[in-house]
Amino acid sequence: MRLNVTAAVLLSAAAYYVYLPLPPGVCEPWKLMLLDALFRSFMTARDILGLKQVHLLNHVVSLVEEVPARSCSALHVTDSALAGIPTRVYRPRAGQALKRGVLYFHGGGWALGSARMRSYDLLCRKMAEDLDAVIMSVDYGLAPESVFPAPYLDALSASRSFLSADTWDRFGLDPNRLCISGDSAGGNLAAAVTQTLSSDPSLPTQPRVQALVYPVLQALDFQTSSYQQNQAVPILYRPVMARFWLQYLDADPLLEPSILNNLHSCALDPITRSKINWTVLVPAHIRKHYRPIAVDTSTGAELAPVFLDVRAAPLLADDVVLSRTPKAYILTCEFDILRDDGMMYARRLRDAGVTVTSDHYDDGFHGCMVFANLPMMSSVGRRSMEGFIRWLDQNL
Ligand SMILES: *[C@@H]1O[C@H](CO)[C@@H](O)[C@H](O)[C@H]1NC(C)=O
Repeated sequence: MRLNVTAAVLLSAAAYYVYLPLPPGVCEPWKLMLLDALFRSFMTARDILGLKQVHLLNHVVSLVEEVPARSCSALHVTDSALAGIPTRVYRPRAGQALKRGVLYFHGGGWALGSARMRSYDLLCRKMAEDLDAVIMSVDYGLAPESVFPAPYLDALSASRSFLSADTWDRFGLDPNRLCISGDSAGGNLAAAVTQTLSSDPSLPTQPRVQALVYPVLQALDFQTSSYQQNQAVPILYRPVMARFWLQYLDADPLLEPSILNNLHSCALDPITRSKINWTVLVPAHIRKHYRPIAVDTSTGAELAPVFLDVRAAPLLADDVVLSRTPKAYILTCEFDILRDDGMMYARRLRDAGVTVTSDHYDDGFHGCMVFANLPMMSSVGRRSMEGFIRWLDQNL
């Protein structure tokens, strides 16, 4: 009897912990709640632990989550390096002699994740097999040890090596069919390095396409319509994104409340402001009834220049830089605070003359494509992954 009561109490505590009111329309809400409970426990543990224990926690997670480079009958998989940056390489054994190539940057707020994680490993295997392409998944340095510009510079070095004749020869790549891609914080790195590469005429070749999956692209407006609409939607909450940004930019963590209220960006010049003006750049049916939130300018905080650095915030690039970048695929999810970052970038690229495929998932949430492999796989995860790979197949 006492055991039953204890069990009932524990069960309701667990249900209380897992349960979240979610907006109507989210794909398979219970799966998302479970995923969120896992993610929240991990983030809470990180917050409670000191720096030293965070390493221990990361180590435990990597023991559980990381998988070795396993080759199979279809794929040769190795842990290699591009310009000294650790990179896992997936090479189909059969098929075309000269292969298409994708350089991939994993997500995780510039602080978490790895090319060796099961979910990314599975994604890259599927891409390599379905596309008959060589996939190179880069392990750039992570915060807190490695902060901006170091991860961007890692990504850039790996990309330059990816576009070099040595690498084509070594891995059998077709230099005219190369893609730079990534999701979330990895989408940020992919967009940033693509801009830098496209403005460098000395390179022996250029990427043919860029493919960005729910990318994070700016740190000036934390009150876009998607930040407002989805601030309490898992798994990426508004304050968590602010913390990831502050850590990546090596800024004072105490700025969190100030940047969440846009106090840091209340005195922008009109040109910068126009680049993030979501009331113009995001379609009306996507931004809905949301309006900019007034900022008390008398309480404005000073803006650290790094917030305006286009290598950290690729949405802030000038039109002429955008116009040189290759054909783009941008995946966005309705239930994602970063939705408007992607929407604004799609619009700005299009206005600059770039061909853009904007692939929006009405029932999608942040992270869905990569968590498509977990036991609680959601249908939007599978659909978005298939859509992403189909676009690459048709455009790369
Ligand atoms: C955004 O653009 C609209 C239309 O041009 C303008 O009325 C509005 O003031 C702009 N918003 C900001 C914050 O600059």
